[in-house]
Amino acid sequence: MTMYAFTRSQNLFERAARVVPNGIYGPMSPAFLVPGHYPYFFQRGAGSHVWDVDGNEYIDYMCSYGPIVLGHCHPKVEAAVAAQQQAGNCFNGPGSAFVELAERLVDLTPFADWALFAKNGSDVVTWSLLVAREHTSRPKIVMADGTYHGTDAWCTPLTAGTTPADRAEILTFKYDDLADLQRVVAAHHEQIAGIIVTPFRHEAFHDQEMPGTGFHQGVRELCDAHGIVFILDDVRAGFRLHLGGSLEGLGVRPDIASYCKAIANGYPLSASVGREFLRPAAERVFLAGTFFMSAVPMVAALATLEELAASGAIQHMWHVGTLLGRGLEDQARAHGLPINVTGPPAIPFMSFADDPDFERNRWFCAACAARGVYFHPHHNWFLSAAHTEEDIARTLDVTDAAFRSVKEKWG
Ligand SMILES: Cc1ncc(COP(=O)(O)O)c(C=O)c1O
Repeated sequence: MTMYAFTRSQNLFERAARVVPNGIYGPMSPAFLVPGHYPYFFQRGAGSHVWDVDGNEYIDYMCSYGPIVLGHCHPKVEAAVAAQQQAGNCFNGPGSAFVELAERLVDLTPFADWALFAKNGSDVVTWSLLVAREHTSRPKIVMADGTYHGTDAWCTPLTAGTTPADRAEILTFKYDDLADLQRVVAAHHEQIAGIIVTPFRHEAFHDQEMPGTGFHQGVRELCDAHGIVFILDDVRAGFRLHLGGSLEGLGVRPDIASYCKAIANGYPLSASVGREFLRPAAERVFLAGTFFMSAVPMVAALATLEELAASGAIQHMWHVGTLLGRGLEDQARAHGLPINVTGPPAIPFMSFADDPDFERNRWFCAACAARGVYFHPHHNWFLSAAHTEEDIARTLDVTDAAFRSVKEKWG
């Protein structure tokens, strides 16, 4: 196998570092990858593959950190986008796609009576907290300790630039620990506006955790017993587990939910959907943004949702994700390397046992990147509808070599 070089990526990064704080920021920062052994800048994508600025081709298991759910440059989405771009994107008000998309989300989501749109997950997640407060006239929000809900001051994982007042009304509990949540609710219930949870635990630098049976049902019951709003943060998992909301398969329905990543196959859009009883509060809490009404992402979302439903994409992602996870487990066993494959097959993650600083995983992922497979060493991965069984087979050829390389280095 030819090993890739990343010369243009590195040159661009050196230039970026002179004019951009940190060069590249957020989870895509080289500091979070494997400095010098990863591509940083990309040129194009098609289906399940991406090409970096050095011309190296990868099977892409990050899918742009989630948005690419149908595959890069999906023809039906791109055709809808091109047609809308001809007509214009940004007007004095929304286009008809705004109404059609709200209708589509309400139809798809069994608990939803309304929908509205913004750009990023953080926009709608934070707005849903305000709606819960406005509805209940209570100040406090309960969230699971360490959960990522975005970059706003109440939840940003790095607290630089925030004040204690930003988090003064935030209470925390241990994810998937109903007794702990009950303790928090018992101590503060007359003050609690909302409990916000994700469908499963998917924090960076951790194995993923699927909640035990009854956890989300328990959250639902606590909310009902105390007049608390059940807020689902479905930004990361939305549209990869179920088209009607990621808890639908468990038979649990929240009061309000946020979507972003996969909703428009790479175009900037987020959405909030909610129940009728929250409509008055939703009407009073101000929501606006310079680009919130732009038409192109809305037609992209309509095309994406239609294709997800028509193509059986969710079952397909489950299938190829299962093949990948089982393949990794079998190989690792054959190499005598204990690993953990965690999370749902469409949003998997792999780590090495006894690798608390992710050193082995960084080595493994760098070995894969050099051979044309793009994983992330400490952030969950994403499958798309475009991944094929052939992709998985090619990937497993690469991971076999990467496991061997880990074994040679660490024994
Ligand atoms: C669960 C969850 N909530 C909220 C967010 C924030 O979304 P955004 O980055 O679009 O603001 C993310 C982003 O990764 C997320 O995974």
